[in-house]
Amino acid sequence: MTELTVALGNRSYPIHIGAGLLGDARYLTPHIAGRQVMLVTDETVAPLYLRRALASLSDFDCAQVVLADGEQFKNLDTVERVFEALLTHRFNRTATLVALGGGVIGDITGFAAACYQRGVPFIQIPTTLLAQVDSSVGGKTGVNHALGKNMIGAFHQPRCVIADTTTLDTLDDRQLRAGIAEVIKYGLISDPDFFAWLEQHMHELLARRPEALAYAIERSCRNKAEVVAADELETGRRALLNLGHTFGHAIETGTGYGTWLHGEAVAAGMCMAAELSAQLGWISAADVTRTEALMLAAGLPARPPTNLSRDRFLELMAIDKKVLDGRLRLVLLKGIGRAVVTDDFDSSVLHRVLDAASGGSATHAARS
Ligand code: NAD
Ligand code: GLY
Repeated sequence: MTELTVALGNRSYPIHIGAGLLGDARYLTPHIAGRQVMLVTDETVAPLYLRRALASLSDFDCAQVVLADGEQFKNLDTVERVFEALLTHRFNRTATLVALGGGVIGDITGFAAACYQRGVPFIQIPTTLLAQVDSSVGGKTGVNHALGKNMIGAFHQPRCVIADTTTLDTLDDRQLRAGIAEVIKYGLISDPDFFAWLEQHMHELLARRPEALAYAIERSCRNKAEVVAADELETGRRALLNLGHTFGHAIETGTGYGTWLHGEAVAAGMCMAAELSAQLGWISAADVTRTEALMLAAGLPARPPTNLSRDRFLELMAIDKKVLDGRLRLVLLKGIGRAVVTDDFDSSVLHRVLDAASGGSATHAARS
């Protein structure tokens, strides 16, 4: 078992990573202050892990809400279902919400916790690779709007994160690969040695070798915890964690939520960011090749869908949260392991990259 800390003063919290942590009350119960616990999960995760999670909560007044599964349900209607469950059970301000599931459940539950009675505590028990390496850590919560991804939300830090690596045994291969995209992201942003490690060990991750997975989760969480501790509210450096996301969110919204998985869209987005960086003369063609090769080795798309035109991309990208005073800012690369946030690029080069993308053929077509 590894324990990391997200250092945020008196709101600091632990990330526990290890095999078999789910159902072990020692990790969970110290972070529950009151008696009332609302466990939030989805209809896929519930039959797999709800009973085990409830077993560790037997000393509490515990209720649960099982939500529909899918990115297309990450919206305000679903948050309303959580509020209804909380009110029906007359849960008060001492209640704690527990998110058991992937990033969708974590984002919805955290947002419900941020809003319910102006804020109650919550705990993350992530069960996808993506959630264990990224979404459960850092306190970004929220839901999608039909016009833009993650547009309604709040910063609300969990009280702890419990990542039981054995829950990944039941995750399907496509979801595992989507999680690997966010793992690769840390290497590209600021950890070139980790990127090189991934080039050497990708086959072990895909084969679900426990030591390789545990190492990748721990290193990813270390990277994320450090950035969040330095810039919790994304006034600067945290924006780097959005590498590939401005393109990726446009792909997710443009193709319809749930068609491309978040990780798949981010993978293609990171390759687009690399291509744009190369065309601006900031990185070499060899760096683009390395980036694309690692995505493809992970079974991830290196190209966006061909049915999004340049204009549609630009329209969707204009809604990005990094847009400031109408000016698009992007996370781009100055090298592998050296990402920057910038609005200092020639938009005609961006247009060229988008034109090539919408005309180019997908090297790996994401399943719809
Ligand atoms: P997800 O939550 O939709 O989970 C993927 C699928 O796996 C779902 O069908 C789920 O039911 C199933 N599942 C979950 N755990 C399982 C298990 N152990 N075994 C079998 N099936 C399991 O998707 P995700 O990739 O975990 O998360 C994507 C979401 O996370 C997106 O909405 C994205 O915007 C968000 N996100 C948020 C942050 C953040 O900082 N808050 C960061 C990255 C991504
Ligand atoms: N996933 C981006 C962030 O947490 O900031």
